[in-house]
Amino acid sequence: MEKKNIDWENLGFDYIVTDKRYVSYYKDGAWDDGALTSDATVTISECAGVLQYAQTCFEGLKAYTTVDGHIVCFRPDLNADRMIDSCERLEMPVFPKERFLEAVEQVVSANEAYVPPYGSGATLYIRPYMFGSNAVIGVKPAREYQFRMFVTPVGPYFKGGAKPITIRVCDYDRAAPHGTGHIKAGLNYAMSLFPIMDAHRQGFDENMYLDAATRTKVEETGGANFLFVTKDGTVVTPKSNSILPSITRRSLMYVAEHYLGLKVEQREVYFDEVKDFADCGLCGTAAVISPVGKINDHGREICFPSGMEEMGPVTAKLRETLTGIQMGTIEAPEGWIKVIK
Ligand code: PLP
Ligand code: COI
Repeated sequence: MEKKNIDWENLGFDYIVTDKRYVSYYKDGAWDDGALTSDATVTISECAGVLQYAQTCFEGLKAYTTVDGHIVCFRPDLNADRMIDSCERLEMPVFPKERFLEAVEQVVSANEAYVPPYGSGATLYIRPYMFGSNAVIGVKPAREYQFRMFVTPVGPYFKGGAKPITIRVCDYDRAAPHGTGHIKAGLNYAMSLFPIMDAHRQGFDENMYLDAATRTKVEETGGANFLFVTKDGTVVTPKSNSILPSITRRSLMYVAEHYLGLKVEQREVYFDEVKDFADCGLCGTAAVISPVGKINDHGREICFPSGMEEMGPVTAKLRETLTGIQMGTIEAPEGWIKVIK
């Protein structure tokens, strides 16, 4: 299989159109058989539920080329499960888990020429999504939907890859206590656009959101969960009902405990404690683990000991182990790796 002529090493996190995508239509209470298509455009009613009332959710996962030349995906079953949770919360029909997994296999195989080579630092990002497509003018769920999945080769989410970033404590909220922060609804990201652009205008890479009710506890960023490391080497991650249950974070906590022999804690994390941590990272499919070097709290700076040039030792080890599992250089726990070919 001849690869596309792409400068893999210098890819950013941008959309590049690929050859095939998967689409299945929901009508009269049932999904059709689904198929791959070469058409990268979508035609829907001007009054579609997604356009008027944002009835849409999505997922994000990756395919990798392993050291021995296979193409694999990382825990796609958990993305299928989380999309089911998102659909239920948004009154959308569930796309069956088995079919989600088949679609991943089909769309990655059909775009094999776009899967970045081993060692390039790039990966194939897979974007499943669903939206209400028929005309809806009263506020109610659509009756017709499209489930789609495209792929695009990507490099690091934050420019500079593993170089530490600077984030700020955000005065806007990401999610309400009983809202939709725990699912991957498009609406959560729409309302984060002003805060992220505002952060960039002020010279910061990302926002640290606090809990909306008390503004005393750490939640997450716009696109990743937090991991902290205490001075005695315990890996701590915030527990909250209004953050996205990151698959990367759940995997890293397992890696920390079972591969690195570290103590792990998932608990409420008060912002006041953050200054005492030894290390801080953002974790997610796109972010992998991106080190945080500095947090700006309304002008007061919290600087982590590893500084602005290097990752902290524990986050570096976590990143190395997780990417080793994904690329096949370290043995994976049972069921984590789905071989596509
Ligand atoms: N939190 C938010 C808000 C996200 O958008 C993402 C990305 O998917 C994550 C966390 C990380 O989740 P995962 O590790 O499953 O990609
Ligand atoms: C992902 O990590 O897959 C996400 O969806 C995050 C998004 C902000 C790109």
